[in-house]
Amino acid sequence: MTANLKIPVQRTIAFSAVLGLILSLILFIPGNSSAKVTGLCVNCHTMHNSQDGGAMATYGGTSGENSCLTRGSCIGCHAYNKTGAASVVDVGGSQIPQVWHAGTDLAAGNFKYVDGADYGKGHNVTDFFGADSDVDLNAAPGVQSGHESYLTDSTLKCAGDRGCHGIRDSDTGILALKGAHHGNVDGKCNDPTTVAKSYRFLSGVKGLENTTDKWQNKDVTSHNEYFGAITPMTEACLNCHDGGGGPVISSTNTISGFCGTCHGNFHFLAGIGGDTSSPFTRHPTDVDLPGGTTEFAAYTTYSVEAPVGRTTVPDTASGTVTPGGGTDVITCLSCHGAHGTNYPDMLKWDYLTMNAGGGGSGGCFTCHTEKDNP
Ligand code: HEC
Ligand code: HEC
Ligand code: HEC
Ligand code: HEC
Ligand code: HEC
Ligand code: HEC
Repeated sequence: MTANLKIPVQRTIAFSAVLGLILSLILFIPGNSSAKVTGLCVNCHTMHNSQDGGAMATYGGTSGENSCLTRGSCIGCHAYNKTGAASVVDVGGSQIPQVWHAGTDLAAGNFKYVDGADYGKGHNVTDFFGADSDVDLNAAPGVQSGHESYLTDSTLKCAGDRGCHGIRDSDTGILALKGAHHGNVDGKCNDPTTVAKSYRFLSGVKGLENTTDKWQNKDVTSHNEYFGAITPMTEACLNCHDGGGGPVISSTNTISGFCGTCHGNFHFLAGIGGDTSSPFTRHPTDVDLPGGTTEFAAYTTYSVEAPVGRTTVPDTASGTVTPGGGTDVITCLSCHGAHGTNYPDMLKWDYLTMNAGGGGSGGCFTCHTEKDNP
């Protein structure tokens, strides 16, 4: 017996040593941490949508059963309490980031600004606003030819088909994200081969998610890092339809290419004038921020108001901008929000106060550093 006992003990030690090694390898992959949803199942799921005879799938005022047996739809969980101040709601210990609330905006902005007569301040997703809610717009401005009827204020959704998050194929809503929340990769998203591994569940998009102040662009060193390139994409079908006919993805993996899947002409190389250098015919995105003797050379401290993208996903957020190095580029999010902002055209600042020679700062002047000079 005593002789027999030793073997399992040694095995246990050897096994735990190996396990320890494996665990430490997993834990020390830089910048690539797991942020899977945590907490009691009952915080987020209901098995029958019934307890004591009452409905349980009621989050955010939603009603009715959902795929994956969740207690709310996308907006049920992510607009849990529209009038509350919490930008991240605590439900039984589980933290749910909010896209519509009364508090301080998270990085993508806030859909509250788009309500009512302010439909021009952001994306009129039908999940919140129903069909045809943008009085001035139907099709997405700049939408690539032939796609005008697919991408409108009557079709736009949070997720899946005609939407932004998840697999953009035939499914909509929670099914388009199935597996993403429990598999969520936090921090560095450099291998976006699944929705869980993509930046903010945007299929195919790379980036660095802020793990210090989650979901926030707080200040010069605590922010997300957007992925960009030094040349925008071309109109080829397979640049948006994976493999030619598959789900819609940003094939260049950039955030601007992602916006370009619906606003193609504003992003395509042909759309900005056919070249990555001046003169341009539309404001460029996914082009290098010039350095040398240009006015851009003075933009050296990262601004969360007019951020640059990076051509390599960094391990940690950086407060430095390096013009002219082929590393720091302009993106759609250098000027725009993603959900909604407090300014017309979902801009990050008030364009109508940008006054050449007026001595202003911020906004356009963050990059065009000499245009404010009186
Ligand atoms: C904080 C919220 C939250 C908690 C807690 C949670 N889930 Fe989920 N779960 C979700 C969401 C949201 C989805 C649907 C979207 C998705 O899959 O990304 C989901 C999907 C699932 C799925 C289908 C997709 C997959 O990943 O397999 C299963 C099964 C599941 N949950 C089981 C559980 C169990 C079991 C527990 C408790 C041990 C639990 N969940 C706790 C939010 C949660
Ligand atoms: C049952 C509640 C629940 C539902 C339903 C739900 N979510 Fe979430 N979602 C969460 C929680 C909790 C987190 C935070 C996960 C974490 O801590 O990283 C989250 C995180 C996210 C994130 C941020 C991921 C990241 O990179 O940090 C996105 C984007 C998102 N959800 C989109 C959606 C969309 C789109 C839908 C509908 C298809 C949806 N969610 C449905 C609870 C939910
Ligand atoms: C799934 C398609 C889709 C994607 C992806 C998309 N948009 Fe849009 N966008 C639309 C549609 C449709 C409209 C017009 C309806 C409306 O106002 O929401 C629109 C409108 C806009 C507007 C004008 C808002 C207004 O009401 O005047 C801006 C600005 C904009 N998008 C910027 C962006 C940016 C920046 C991104 C990337 C972060 C992006 N879009 C990604 C479909 C999309
Ligand atoms: C700039 C990106 C982009 C390019 C380039 C592009 N598409 Fe699309 N296409 C989309 C988006 C986005 C949708 C809406 C799909 C969705 O999310 O439901 C779409 C939808 C479609 C649909 C409607 C059926 C469906 O699956 O929703 C067809 C058909 C289609 N595209 C064909 C083409 C063909 C053919 C080409 C090449 C000539 C092409 N597309 C080029 C982005 C693009
Ligand atoms: C340099 C800042 C800047 C960048 C970068 C930028 N935009 Fe804009 N965008 C603006 C301004 C300013 C407007 C107001 C209309 C105008 O001046 O053309 C606008 C308007 C829009 C509109 C509304 C157009 C309408 O008809 O109402 C859409 C959609 C849009 N932008 C999408 C994008 C997308 C997608 C990208 C990236 C491919 C992008 N923008 C990059 C500054 C920018
Ligand atoms: C994140 C940096 C950034 C911001 C913010 C920005 N721009 Fe630009 N802008 C650039 C870059 C880079 C170019 C391309 C310059 C080059 O390659 O010569 C450019 C080009 C232009 C051009 C065309 C110049 C040419 O040579 O064809 C105009 C006009 C312009 N920007 C105006 C604006 C206005 C107005 C705003 C504010 C709404 C703005 N920009 C915001 C970086 C920026």
